[in-house]
Amino acid sequence: MSTDAAPRPIHIAPSVLPADFSKLGDECRALEDAGVDRIQWDVMDGQFVPNLTFGPDVIAACRSAVTVPFEAHLMVNTPEVLLEKYVDAGCELLIIHAESTGHLHRCLGQVADAGARAAVALNPSSPISLIEHVLDLVEMVLVMTVNPGFGGQAYIATMEPKITELRALIVERGIDVDIEVDGGIGPNTIAAATAAGANVLVAGSALYRDPAGLAHAVTDLRNRAEAAQAPGRAA
Ligand code: DX5
Repeated sequence: MSTDAAPRPIHIAPSVLPADFSKLGDECRALEDAGVDRIQWDVMDGQFVPNLTFGPDVIAACRSAVTVPFEAHLMVNTPEVLLEKYVDAGCELLIIHAESTGHLHRCLGQVADAGARAAVALNPSSPISLIEHVLDLVEMVLVMTVNPGFGGQAYIATMEPKITELRALIVERGIDVDIEVDGGIGPNTIAAATAAGANVLVAGSALYRDPAGLAHAVTDLRNRAEAAQAPGRAA
């Protein structure tokens, strides 16, 4: 992957939050067939966020249904305690919220020790300064564009300057780090988020509400994001 200001590959990562939980294996297959690059599992403990979602066994049950990578977005108060379980369940990338642990540097090291790749997430009110000393430990930074806990929320456009500032820091340091955004990403918001500097786009509601179906939604979002990275734009 590039470490300069050249556009980075666009990845479309669906959230399965809007999927039919009574048939998650089939839903993962449908997402893979629709052309997604990875699948994001929104793990919520009912404490860090007011919602409760997927335990590791649910994810493990879906692992053999598809071959696309799984990533776990850990919206939990005890990431150190839980992270190995999600690696064992088949998640190869773990996203740790900077706000969820008093020992973020050590927690990200634990992810690597568990054999997975690490990413760090920032809630909307959290500044980039929270993660500037752990960028060497991660391959991706997730800039939340909603307050975590639920799908279907409105995109927070004021996150765009934060995305741009983070991208400039990454380029300045010459490090190989993706920027992911999550929350309210759809046909009307993906171009602005990508132009600001994001290259991994998480979408839930926008995929499932497309009347033309998942494959159309994935292709449409990818095309819009790639167009927003048009030559001459510093991604
Ligand atoms: C919030 C979740 C959502 C979900 C996507 O905690 O992380 O952002 O992934 O939600 P949509 O795409 O429906 O806004």
